[in-house]
Amino acid sequence: MRLPTKAVIPVAGLGTRFLPATKAMPKEMLPLVDKPVIQYVVEEAVRSGLSDILFITGRDKYALENHFDSAEALESRLEEKGDDEKLALVQDATNLGNIHYVRQGGAKGLGHAVLAAKSFVGHESFAVLLGDDVLEESSALLERMMQVHQATGSSVVALVEVPKSEIHKYGSIKPAGDFDGDTIKVADFVEKPKADVAPSNYAVIGRYILRPELFDIIAKLEPGAGDEIQLTDALSISARDASLAGGVVGVIFNGERYDAGDKLEYIKATVRLASKRADLGPELNTWLKEFSKEI
Ligand code: G1P
Repeated sequence: MRLPTKAVIPVAGLGTRFLPATKAMPKEMLPLVDKPVIQYVVEEAVRSGLSDILFITGRDKYALENHFDSAEALESRLEEKGDDEKLALVQDATNLGNIHYVRQGGAKGLGHAVLAAKSFVGHESFAVLLGDDVLEESSALLERMMQVHQATGSSVVALVEVPKSEIHKYGSIKPAGDFDGDTIKVADFVEKPKADVAPSNYAVIGRYILRPELFDIIAKLEPGAGDEIQLTDALSISARDASLAGGVVGVIFNGERYDAGDKLEYIKATVRLASKRADLGPELNTWLKEFSKEI
């Protein structure tokens, strides 16, 4: 089985959780320190060997498209000034892999967004990365997931263990047995379950390696949780009957993860990333210690 080379990144969401900041700006363009959230995600994909990136976009995402395109006027201005450092920062986003776009045609759920990638992906396995999850730079999660995919032939989901009180925010897995190292076979999924009916504390986070047969399963789905076409429902069908799309395996992720789609988590992510930076960390950390005495 070949290693996937294509990454699908759905970005058609409206970003209502960050209004009014996202009234005229895509939520994916909100900065974490000085880089848009989405650039961290694209960099992770490229670092993991995924050279073709497909954004599933919607209305009013021009700023995102412009960010990954060249900015001629700005670049020549910086060249004239001899500001190579800033020029490199501007060009970094343009030089990341081959970027492609397709419009989702309405925000009808994650399954619907993934289905829009069908003709781009063809008959190969592919990765899906959700923009709200930002993983620490050293994370090799996607590479590990691709290894597991190659070894098992199954679709692969990334898991974190969360407190029961938080499981309603995620897809939760019903394990088919115990962990074998960092992997576990999935028997079933429940999308955004209430704590008392969640099949486990293992939550699906926004990294997937999917078999192309899932497209046909998604295409036949009725709307599920939240009246949306859910990727989780297609994964459930394959997990329950592995003869359909090869079954599903989970890989546990123990590294640092930032949920940039949640206001409080977004603020924490900004502070944590800045506090690790050589140019900002020392002063910020001194200030944080002082500030913590005030509150
Ligand atoms: C989606 C999936 C959910 C998963 C989550 C991870 O939900 O449907 O199963 O746990 O991403 O971020 P969303 O956050 O898009 O509502």
